[in-house]
Amino acid sequence: MVSVDLVIRGGTVVTSGGMFRANVAVKDGKIYAFTAVSEVLPADKVIDAEGLYVLPGVIDEHVHCRDPGLTHKEDFKTCTEAAAAGGVTTIFDMPNNIPPIKDVEALRMKIQEAERKAIVDYGLYGLLTVGSLPHVMPLVENGVIGFKMFMGPTTGNIPPPSDGEMLDLFSVIAKTGLRIAIHAEAQSIIDYLISKLRSEGRKDPRAHLESRPAIVEEEAIRRVSLYARETSAKIHIVHVASARALDAIKDAKSMGVNITAETCPHYLLLDDSYYEKLGIIIKVNPAIKSKNDQAALWDAINNGLIDTLGTDHAPHTPDEKFKDDVFEAAAGFPGLETFVPLMLTQVNAGRLSLTRFVQLTSENPAKAFGIWPQKGSLFIGSDADFTIVDLKATTKIRADKFHSKAKWSPFDGWEVKGIPVYTIVRGNIVMDHGEIITTKPIGKHIKYSDYVSIL
Ligand code: DOR
Ligand code: ZN
Repeated sequence: MVSVDLVIRGGTVVTSGGMFRANVAVKDGKIYAFTAVSEVLPADKVIDAEGLYVLPGVIDEHVHCRDPGLTHKEDFKTCTEAAAAGGVTTIFDMPNNIPPIKDVEALRMKIQEAERKAIVDYGLYGLLTVGSLPHVMPLVENGVIGFKMFMGPTTGNIPPPSDGEMLDLFSVIAKTGLRIAIHAEAQSIIDYLISKLRSEGRKDPRAHLESRPAIVEEEAIRRVSLYARETSAKIHIVHVASARALDAIKDAKSMGVNITAETCPHYLLLDDSYYEKLGIIIKVNPAIKSKNDQAALWDAINNGLIDTLGTDHAPHTPDEKFKDDVFEAAAGFPGLETFVPLMLTQVNAGRLSLTRFVQLTSENPAKAFGIWPQKGSLFIGSDADFTIVDLKATTKIRADKFHSKAKWSPFDGWEVKGIPVYTIVRGNIVMDHGEIITTKPIGKHIKYSDYVSIL
């Protein structure tokens, strides 16, 4: 009888289509077979998954690992350890580094750091900014997973391309098949509102929301959707935070734009009452909005208007974050280690199904970025990436125990029910009941060009 490397025994396997009990056999980093629970293939290692759920590995397509250049906030070691601890098997890393990842030289620097440090798989975004046109094809040829464009100001203050430049960039990228992830907030409205609020002496946490009302999201999404329709570019709106943004996405989808959309746990679980309850810690771009916006996002999670969930893991030092003036404070917070427990708690509360969770965190991101079914599925022959979860386990979020360098969180102290207990990357067990057990940087660079023949 054939011997395999690993058997995950007796768990409930969850796919995007349903659930069944089976053993999963892994050989050479790939899914080799599913067998009846009574039939255990000889294996070097057996994980007892009785009572546990075996999910395809969670893909977080929105992470800021800060490496290179901002490693006082985070680096690929701490970032991917946070991912592994949080049950995430693949991350896509954002390009607002120092230097920004806008050319091949910067991309190579980033690849070098990741190769030495990463313990989960990683895709890397290239940046679209002023002057990006000559850099697009070299970045594609060097394996970026997609592009990122910041239309509004955020960490790094990277200027957006002009509208004309966007059209040109979209036309070129459309031919490659890569998707463009977009931070859709209108820069000029935000700049105007910030200076107005500052001149009125405002610096309280809620002033952040007032500087970024929902119209800034809606305007940017509608504008960029027109450019995507014009050029046939594929776009992905990250961190959707408002009902108005959802209206714009719905209209774009009905116009035939190839558009996908992400939201994040903080928009689903926090609302504007938290500006008073928690203060500056919830500053994030886009801003946390109203309860009505939150309710619309929950509908969109379940009706398919939102395609993916990402964390927008955005670590900073406490000094950068906790300022007296909200306009001086860094935006964002770490999310990799709270993502899966927070969302599984919502599964337990009946607000989304486990299969929908798998679609949002695994199948859909893999499909949107062209790496399905090698990732984001549990097919025989797919990468053996698994997030094994205990849906009954309860705990309290402890930010001081994070692997991220940022040991603080708006969710610190929250009770959760449902936690990841094993993280497995191409057959390598990287996390076992909260402990990081890999000593080698086994993470692999996931290149779009390796999955789809485009060149
Ligand atoms: O709050 C945010 N922080 N939003 C972003 O879009 C970027 C992120 C960061 O890089 O700090
Ligand atoms: Zn981000």
